[in-house]
Amino acid sequence: MENPVNSDKSISQHYQHPDLVRAIADALKLQGKSKETVSTRDLASVDEFHMGGPVATEHFFKALELTANTKVIDLGCGIGGSARFCAQSYGCYVTGVDLTDSYVQAARVLTGWVGLSNQVKFLQGSVLSLGVESDQFDCAYMMHLGMNIEDKAQLFKEAARILKPKGTIAIYDILRVGQGELSYPVPWTTDNAGSHLATIDVYQQALDKAGLEVEIVNNRQDFAKGFYNKMAQNNQPKPLGLHILMQQNAATKIANMVSGLTENIIAPFEIYARKR
Ligand SMILES: C[S@@+](CC[C@H](N)C(=O)[O-])C[C@H]1O[C@@H](n2cnc3c(N)ncnc32)[C@H](O)[C@@H]1O
Repeated sequence: MENPVNSDKSISQHYQHPDLVRAIADALKLQGKSKETVSTRDLASVDEFHMGGPVATEHFFKALELTANTKVIDLGCGIGGSARFCAQSYGCYVTGVDLTDSYVQAARVLTGWVGLSNQVKFLQGSVLSLGVESDQFDCAYMMHLGMNIEDKAQLFKEAARILKPKGTIAIYDILRVGQGELSYPVPWTTDNAGSHLATIDVYQQALDKAGLEVEIVNNRQDFAKGFYNKMAQNNQPKPLGLHILMQQNAATKIANMVSGLTENIIAPFEIYARKR
């Protein structure tokens, strides 16, 4: 297994952006919006960095029984789109944690723009060693994080530690479903060394070992295939989009990921488990 410090460094270097807030503000301007007029919905095309974007997020959260009293943590929150969606839709308090400091900085700024800073907070750090107390969250979720994490056992052990007894963990990750290699780059890594795809069996075993009992597994491959088919037909990308986060070779990263999906090598899954 790779040295976790080196691995963290290469992961955050992959995502790091030199001037992310300005890039988002410039794209918003081209769409006739500003930081004073922008809404969470306007930001959804750039801040939901996972297969299916905001459509997938809405579906993912529906299975959770979130209320204004649910204390939630978003593991690998990116620039905070799902955390803001969760806070705005369900009234919850959300803590987002991410390794990439330019993402965390952008997450804080964007959250201020849409007036949610009292409800959503962000911490910079690794999900493998969270600087938060044990047994304090009702719900932990992660969206497209696991592909960057080799040590799934530690990932779920740490998630279980910070959850209250009977707390829920929800996962929306890209899993390996078939043989064959992806072409690189893909959105989560420039090369094979940064990709840690695992099968549903590996996830289930690691969750179980961490004391997290799997209750629901949804293979979302058909949804994702439909989503990217539709996207291919609409070839007029807007200024505000995930290409801002992906930077170099954004189109190739998406094309390689979609090939993996259509060749049945990978598929996004929703997994819901409860702490024993
Ligand atoms: C593909 S992005 C998904 C971001 C967000 N969850 C979303 O769906 O919009 C993966 C994110 O995981 C973060 N990440 C990767 N490894 C991490 C780690 N060990 N600890 C915290 N964040 C990590 C990256 O910095 C990146 O923001």
